[in-house]
Amino acid sequence: MQNHSAGKGAPEASRPYGQPTTTLSCVPKLPASSLLDRHDVQLARIGNAAVAGEKLCYLFAMFDLRSDTVTRPTEGMRQAMARAEVGDDVYGEDPTVRRLEERVAELTGKAAALFVPSGTMSNQIALLCHCRPGDEVIVPRGAHCANYESGAGAAWSGVQFAQVGEDGLFDAAALDAAIRPDAYWAPHSRLVVVENTHNRSGGRVFPPAQAEGVVALAHGRCLAAHLDGARIWNAAMATGRPVSELCAGFDTVGVCFSKGLGAPVGAALCSDAETRARARRWRKMLGGGMRQAGILAAGALYAIEHQRERLADDHAAARLLGQALGAVAGARVVPVETNMVSVAVDVPAERVVEAARRRGVLVGATGPRRLRLVTHLDVVGPGFAAAVDALVLAFRETLAGC
Ligand SMILES: Cc1ncc(COP(=O)(O)O)c(C=O)c1O
Repeated sequence: MQNHSAGKGAPEASRPYGQPTTTLSCVPKLPASSLLDRHDVQLARIGNAAVAGEKLCYLFAMFDLRSDTVTRPTEGMRQAMARAEVGDDVYGEDPTVRRLEERVAELTGKAAALFVPSGTMSNQIALLCHCRPGDEVIVPRGAHCANYESGAGAAWSGVQFAQVGEDGLFDAAALDAAIRPDAYWAPHSRLVVVENTHNRSGGRVFPPAQAEGVVALAHGRCLAAHLDGARIWNAAMATGRPVSELCAGFDTVGVCFSKGLGAPVGAALCSDAETRARARRWRKMLGGGMRQAGILAAGALYAIEHQRERLADDHAAARLLGQALGAVAGARVVPVETNMVSVAVDVPAERVVEAARRRGVLVGATGPRRLRLVTHLDVVGPGFAAAVDALVLAFRETLAGC
């Protein structure tokens, strides 16, 4: 929807930081009219023409806390993207992509990086680089690469997954126990994956010492180690450790620019130079080679340099939200570590989702009685208190009597 309004009255510039971005005719309980600005009116018109009814609500909710992937490029980012110097990156000739890859390699402490369209592709290319059909990959329970990538690991690499530990965490002993015996009938345990932060468990940070132990054990038992660091930026912010320290020892690291950092597209797979060369080939085979990709890389570079430090605000906002919801009877909040709030409720989660939506806040149900709320740059700011208040009311309304 963003491009419809780009260049027409500079909607981003006129939107104050932290203010609701859009409005809803289907949210009677909030003063929608006061939140309408030119941008919103424009979106509403486009929406009315293109989409009807319920779907409109999802497009024009005022606070969207379903994910940190819903962010829209800021004005500064759009300008950086518009100005980007470009070339054909499939030929390896896009200077902005090269700059991004060098910067990301530096930040993760790896020799090289490869720009790819998505976090999913970075994970899948890692599997292809490390594994052969029939291999087993040991992952944390609920791992993104095993549960949320449409079965791609089985389809492209021909691997199977062994999910270990709880809440996104496992230690060297659990890994040791999961490694298959060297028997002709057993799959080869080839790779271990750490996910930091862990999405499914509510943005949990993988403790650095535990990761070190896992990597050492893996290498000692001839397994490679991949880090799904889609939100490694959040883990670095939460632990106060440099990103490179959290990536140390891993053979490959996937990082995303389109989560809390706020870029519209992109991820990178970081590794040594030889692995990058193989990964580039896999990227081509998967159709992930992009031509004048510098326009996207410029957004990612801008995100790294200008929108990384503010992740601290997202974490503070998530803690605040967690405290507020934790005080509602019938809601149990998992301790908040980064930008996600995971809440178990005593009623069907969809009921809470609907009550929140009616009050102008979108949240996600991640289980029959579990919700996930994610803070990010499009919602965190002075207006965020209104979202917290609306959510507390929605939770109280649905959980009354629990
Ligand atoms: C931990 C993790 N890894 C990978 C991905 C995939 O990223 P993408 O949506 O860019 O494919 C996600 C997406 O949310 C994620 O949470």
